[in-house]
Amino acid sequence: MTQHQRLLIIDFGSQVTQLIARRLRELNVFCEIRPYQTVTEATIQEMAPKAVILSGGPDSVTREGSPRAPQALFDMGLPIFGICYGQQVMMEQLGGKVEAGHHAEYGRAYVSPADGHTKDSIFAGLFEAGNEQVWMSHGDRVTQLAPGFEVIGVSPNAPLAMVADEARKFYAVQFHPEVHHTPNGAKMLENFVKMAGFTGDWTMASYKDEAIRIIREQVGDKKVICGLSGGVDSSVAAVLIHEAIGDQLTCVFVDHGLLRLNEAEEVVTMFRDTYKIPLIHADEADLFLGELEGVSDPEVKRKTIGRLFIDVFQKYANGIEGAEFLAQGTLYPDVIESVSFTGGPSVTIKSHHNVGGLPEKMGLKLVEPLRELFKDEVRALGRELGLPDKFIGRHPFPGPGLAIRCPGEITREKLDILRKADAVYIDQIRKHGLYDEIWQAFAAILPMRTVGVMGDGRTYDYALAIRAVTSVDGMTADTYPFTHEFLGETMTRIINEVKGVNRVFYDLTSKPPGTIELE
Ligand code: XMP
Repeated sequence: MTQHQRLLIIDFGSQVTQLIARRLRELNVFCEIRPYQTVTEATIQEMAPKAVILSGGPDSVTREGSPRAPQALFDMGLPIFGICYGQQVMMEQLGGKVEAGHHAEYGRAYVSPADGHTKDSIFAGLFEAGNEQVWMSHGDRVTQLAPGFEVIGVSPNAPLAMVADEARKFYAVQFHPEVHHTPNGAKMLENFVKMAGFTGDWTMASYKDEAIRIIREQVGDKKVICGLSGGVDSSVAAVLIHEAIGDQLTCVFVDHGLLRLNEAEEVVTMFRDTYKIPLIHADEADLFLGELEGVSDPEVKRKTIGRLFIDVFQKYANGIEGAEFLAQGTLYPDVIESVSFTGGPSVTIKSHHNVGGLPEKMGLKLVEPLRELFKDEVRALGRELGLPDKFIGRHPFPGPGLAIRCPGEITREKLDILRKADAVYIDQIRKHGLYDEIWQAFAAILPMRTVGVMGDGRTYDYALAIRAVTSVDGMTADTYPFTHEFLGETMTRIINEVKGVNRVFYDLTSKPPGTIELE
């Protein structure tokens, strides 16, 4: 647990609660999101936050049994900021009235200060260019203010867009200040945390020192095993833990033979030689490729790789005597997703596999030093730990590796061609200075051969797809708009430099309807 000033976000299940946390961390404020079901007076006391934010949510406070904050929260003397559903919860629990909406309001709206309120603390630096654009998304509306509150901001359709009880430092807004479409929303949150007395004491350097202290405390003199994939998350976790406990850490790098060109060697060199971290290189390519022989169904591929990964990891882990802890690079978004508001099963598009998914039945206690961080914060921590920028900035690479970039049957020949072609393609992107603009770029080898002509001869070789997308989080993605010159040059290089390929396609599909990976 961090010793920094902390802010508690009570989550009522909004799609954008994570964005509140993100905005706060950008302000160097440490915060923790807790689902409303898990928050009691005792948890708040134990957490000792300096302020509380009540998130939005899909429910209606007019429905019987709908979510509430612990009533005691409002008497603890803490500044509170309610957003959307959070505003309604505050009004309802503090003696105001909320009615089911007759006209729901979604999308862009403009808020202006209510008479005489332009200089209120929460408004500092706002309304300088007139009204503020905000993003509304709500069905119900507050029809009667709770005692002590007054209206401080209005919009044409929301006469109670912003309300406040300045004496208690209670603020509540009907819109979402945390989203992009409320351009100055972050400023409102900044004003709030300043008024709540936050000094912005959360930095990556202090986070690192504290994470190290916590790991030492948790692990004592016991041994830790870390499943290393070569990706950023597990690598940052490993280097951090190594800094904390040195050789009490052993990394197991399961090499399934589906990695990119020279990747396995690079991982081994970096960890063993540069960082001097004890590393077991489990070279199990024969096992994985053997079991994958003749398999072309994407889900069977994914499940086979996931199952073998666990078997192999367990086999090597069993050989490390006295290990009591398993380290994982679990991130904050993973933690939140695993306690989702609805808990409802969503449709499985793909069975995901990564080193974070090792089974509980291994009987090891977990060390998860990144579980409070977002992806970009993990990168910042990696830099703080001295990991090279080139490594930190690498595009994501999926757990099942090249298997899902080789639709249809996987063969060693195809993997070999794919590795070389992918390396040429990425080299092209780096040479043109485009790597950091792209979320993910890779080549895939298609399950077909086509006829071509090279020199004076006929060829009958593999066709390759190249893909590049921009994305914020991998959930949706746009195709990267390469120029024709770039694509033409890349095609020529791939076909000239990689034997076995005589045709290159550029994948134009965004996500949705496509997914980023081909399988
Ligand atoms: P899709 O293909 O679902 O991918 O659009 C979204 C993002 O997730 C990555 N990905 C995976 N990562 N294990 C992982 O660790 C997996 O099984 C897996 N499948 C896809 C993909 O590369 C993209 O960044």
